[in-house]
Amino acid sequence: MNRKDFLSLSSRAALFLGVAPSVIACKDDKSTIDSDKLNELLSQTKADGSLVNLKHEAIPKVRVGMIGMGNRGSVLIQMFEYLIKNNHAEIVALADLKEDKLNKNNDYLSTIQPGGADLYFGNESAWKKVANRDDIDLLLIATPWNYHAEMCLYGMEHGKHVACEQPMAMTLKDCWKLIEVAERTKRHCMYMENCCFNGEELWVLNMINEGVFGDVNHAEGAYIHDLRKHMMDETYYEDQWRIKHHQIKNGNFYTGHGLGPVSFYMDIGRGDNYDHLVSMSSKEQSLSEAAVKNNFWATEFACGDMNTTLIKTKLGRSIMLQFDTHTGRPYSRLNTVTGTKAVHQGYPSRLYVGHNELQWGHSWLKDQEYREYRERYDHPLWKRLREQIDANAVGHGGMDFVMIYRLIRCLNQGLPLDINLYDSVLWSAITPLSQISVANNSASTKVPDFTGGSWVNKRKNEVLRPII
Ligand SMILES: NC(=O)c1ccc[n+]([C@@H]2O[C@H](COP(=O)([O-])OP(=O)(O)OC[C@H]3O[C@@H](n4cnc5c(N)ncnc54)[C@H](O)[C@@H]3O)[C@@H](O)[C@H]2O)c1
Repeated sequence: MNRKDFLSLSSRAALFLGVAPSVIACKDDKSTIDSDKLNELLSQTKADGSLVNLKHEAIPKVRVGMIGMGNRGSVLIQMFEYLIKNNHAEIVALADLKEDKLNKNNDYLSTIQPGGADLYFGNESAWKKVANRDDIDLLLIATPWNYHAEMCLYGMEHGKHVACEQPMAMTLKDCWKLIEVAERTKRHCMYMENCCFNGEELWVLNMINEGVFGDVNHAEGAYIHDLRKHMMDETYYEDQWRIKHHQIKNGNFYTGHGLGPVSFYMDIGRGDNYDHLVSMSSKEQSLSEAAVKNNFWATEFACGDMNTTLIKTKLGRSIMLQFDTHTGRPYSRLNTVTGTKAVHQGYPSRLYVGHNELQWGHSWLKDQEYREYRERYDHPLWKRLREQIDANAVGHGGMDFVMIYRLIRCLNQGLPLDINLYDSVLWSAITPLSQISVANNSASTKVPDFTGGSWVNKRKNEVLRPII
């Protein structure tokens, strides 16, 4: 995007947002926020909602093609051991730009699936041969962000269900394309938000479902993870793709770890929906200082150290979402949820339960009381899968295994997935929407309804179903 496009975007955004173009000042003239028809993209209502509860015929053994075998792909493949050994899944093909990454992963695969998989590599489009095969049911995508929308769209157009790492799309235009293509092809399109399947988050969700929290009115989620070292490492991310986003954009690029669980807590898409947001970034300092100190090839970054986005829901709840991968500080996803009867805060996990109005208190539950709640409301899935989870702790302590397990077992049984198309697009859209708000002095920005109005229908979260 050149400067002319950006200025034109700014004027159109200003028109929509009701702020004078002169107040818009942003040096980010290479941003990838949609430049075309912004008003239309923000106000569109073209989804038909038909993919809520999407079911397909049961697939007794899911045939999987994986694209992107870097850091993430190498972990995801290990989550299949139990499923392959129990004949629930088979990995048919692996694709990457690099042959050596494929060989390494295929060597591992051969230890759990004799013969391994077919390999596709050598150029940017070799992955299409995987999507073109007619003996694959599901494409699993773990490539750099810029490829996600294209790969999901191509996969669905070629009859595949898709499950993709976050974000599924980086522009509003691509969000709407995902809706159009998924609704037309009737394929599953799942954002692989592993944190929705973590033990702590599922425990909190279970307590909310059982009424421990009363009404949930506010929640906070985040991706706070000091990635400076990895982003400047020449070998960690292929072609250092990640830091390049920080050079040119300002907003929240990694929404799902915070938003996924929080949206589950609030029945988003299942009785409530996001209405509007405001987003603000702090100045950038920590990444550029580290870059100068390390003689890194780039020393200027558009993305502020901390982005904070506030989202208001249709039913009047509020969400605070943060994104900081620049600052030296301990990892956190916050995982805070406030109800009329209880409060949870993560990092470390603490619970307050104030059921009895005559005993309003100010302290977190003591260890013993906390443990009682932990045991009583542990999500049945984590109880039942404990042995397999422990054996797969390499996947972020077990949540990656639970996510892949649920995805495959839902397909095996012809059931709707836990995370559907509308969740996937909504969580992705917060990236461009946060950029638009940041570029417009944190102006309030409407969140489009990607569900075709289907969000008004209340239903229990799918992840609470007891699936074997
Ligand atoms: N959910 C999580 O906990 C989690 C953790 C890590 C990464 N991720 C996500 O996973 C994705 C990948 O991240 P990563 O850390 O593995 O990055 P990476 O750079 O290690 O891996 C990306 C891989 O994609 C390959 N690739 C690039 N272009 C390709 C193309 N056109 N065709 C085929 N392969 C191609 C690269 O060669 C590389 O091996 C990102 O979306 C990231 O956000 C998620």
